[in-house]
Amino acid sequence: MYCSTSIEAQPVGGHPISATGTEGFARANTDYLVTGSRPSAVGLEPTTMADTTTDTAGDQSTANEARDSALAGHAPHTVADVRETYREQAATFGRVQWLDHLFFGRHRRSHFQQARGRVLDVACGLATNARYVPDDTEYVGIDVSVDMLKRAEQHSDSLRLGGGLREMDAQDLDFPDDSFDTIISSLSTCTFPDPVAALSEMSRVCAPDGDILLLEHGRSSVGPIARFQDWRADAHFQKHSCRWNQEPLDIIAESPLSVVDSSTSLLGIITAIRATPA
Ligand SMILES: C[S@@+](CC[C@H](N)C(=O)[O-])C[C@H]1O[C@@H](n2cnc3c(N)ncnc32)[C@H](O)[C@@H]1O
Repeated sequence: MYCSTSIEAQPVGGHPISATGTEGFARANTDYLVTGSRPSAVGLEPTTMADTTTDTAGDQSTANEARDSALAGHAPHTVADVRETYREQAATFGRVQWLDHLFFGRHRRSHFQQARGRVLDVACGLATNARYVPDDTEYVGIDVSVDMLKRAEQHSDSLRLGGGLREMDAQDLDFPDDSFDTIISSLSTCTFPDPVAALSEMSRVCAPDGDILLLEHGRSSVGPIARFQDWRADAHFQKHSCRWNQEPLDIIAESPLSVVDSSTSLLGIITAIRATPA
């Protein structure tokens, strides 16, 4: 179900998806590493992590506890770390798309067919989900990795007419409140440095009567596989910035989203979640 119309990547926050935009952002990231704060959005002024979730000391403590719980014992990482990881991994992701279709294709299709209206794919990566949402939706994909977005552009015949790709931090979305009818996101909460902040942003930009559809992986319900995941968790995280034994529903419980229904498959590794915004 490919659309033959190519789509242009849309500049956001003054940073088009181009070599110039990438260089500009690399400079911003350097500041981030030096100051220990993170960019509030691509190309915007850095803010502290606390700014994302709270503005009082008490709320700060609660937010930190929620974030630490959501990180499942992994060391925190930063948006800059994620960008670096996916700079290295983008080509590999492109090469193993066939494997993705084999294992996740039918799960993506059955879940994201529920999307309607204006659809935001948060952390869209190669925009794989664009082919699984209904034809009459308007697809917009955001990701913090310009390398992933560039590869998504190369597969632009799989993108929707009228949609677009934007370089943006999921934890600080550059969209007004209630902008989208459906938020979709897949294989992403395991990678967000602050997943509760990203889920809160999804809630904010989703219309009050909209849906948030998540397709996430987590710790298997099959003992030996789960133990293997636990054993390799740190190595996997170092290489992929991915907490692969993290339980997605535990993270969502820390966020403002309300789960409407959820189901697991693929040996308990994949969880499909339908939620509503706060
Ligand atoms: C495992 S890939 C999944 C990509 C895609 N959603 C899919 O299902 O194929 C994780 C993606 O999350 C993106 N990501 C991680 N943290 C992000 C953030 N804070 N803002 C936007 N994208 C982020 C990465 O750049 C990467 O493309």
